[in-house]
Amino acid sequence: MFRWLDHGKIERNLILLGVLTLITVSIGGLVQIVPLFAVETTIERVQGVRPYTPLELAGRNIYVREGCYTCHSQMVRPFRDELERYGHYSLAAESMYDRPFQWGSKRTGPDLARVGGRYSDDWHAEHLRNPRALVPDSVMPPYAFLDRPLEYGDIAEHLRALRRLGVPYSDEMIAAARADLVAQARPDLDPSGFQSRYPKARQAAFDGDPSRVTEMDALIAYLQMLGTLVEFRDVTPEQLRQQ
Ligand code: HEC
Repeated sequence: MFRWLDHGKIERNLILLGVLTLITVSIGGLVQIVPLFAVETTIERVQGVRPYTPLELAGRNIYVREGCYTCHSQMVRPFRDELERYGHYSLAAESMYDRPFQWGSKRTGPDLARVGGRYSDDWHAEHLRNPRALVPDSVMPPYAFLDRPLEYGDIAEHLRALRRLGVPYSDEMIAAARADLVAQARPDLDPSGFQSRYPKARQAAFDGDPSRVTEMDALIAYLQMLGTLVEFRDVTPEQLRQQ
């Protein structure tokens, strides 16, 4: 039936060879990629991963705005040198609420996926204001201007937009977004409300000044949360194998 399609002909006809190669490769691609969209376990649910608090989300927006991802990745790869330097390799579930994700593709500075809790809030504030004050050879630019007030009037809209993309923000979280944002950055306010909505969210005067909410507060709240949500002793070996 396919007598006309013998090898000799295919190998001498560049266009035919090209078309048939493309068809063959596409079939391979489809078989590998399409099932991933349907399979439940592509992103294994892992305990502890929660949506960002409004303050962390505002900080994440600043991280994106300032292009921190052009020098920092947020993905620890499963290689021995990376595990020793940064800790457990990143799980897909850890960035399941990231829109857009911040894996990055360039490391001028270190990976930040597990930077949360590694330094004090004061260290971060000092480092962001003037990196060379703490790391004399640093090529990181100073961000002292982040000590200005944070504009958060539209924060509930950010939560609502993310909900449309599948992040499970509840009506209650959206209604309380502004109050939750302020409460997280002001230790004089009661933290029980936002902590019931966002487990493990830490309240602090992140930039050292409890009297006002600055962009610095938001960015440090975000950095200090990175990599702290999943307790790696809670993740079973099967869950890890499926990643
Ligand atoms: C031009 C590249 C560059 C940009 C842009 C940049 N950084 Fe850095 N960053 C570095 C380098 C290099 C280091 C390592 C030296 C140091 O600690 O200052 C670093 C270190 C850090 C560290 C300490 C990490 C660790 O594990 O020691 C943090 C946190 C950090 N940067 C956050 C940020 C944030 C947040 C932004 C955006 C506001 C940013 N960086 C933008 C280059 C950059």
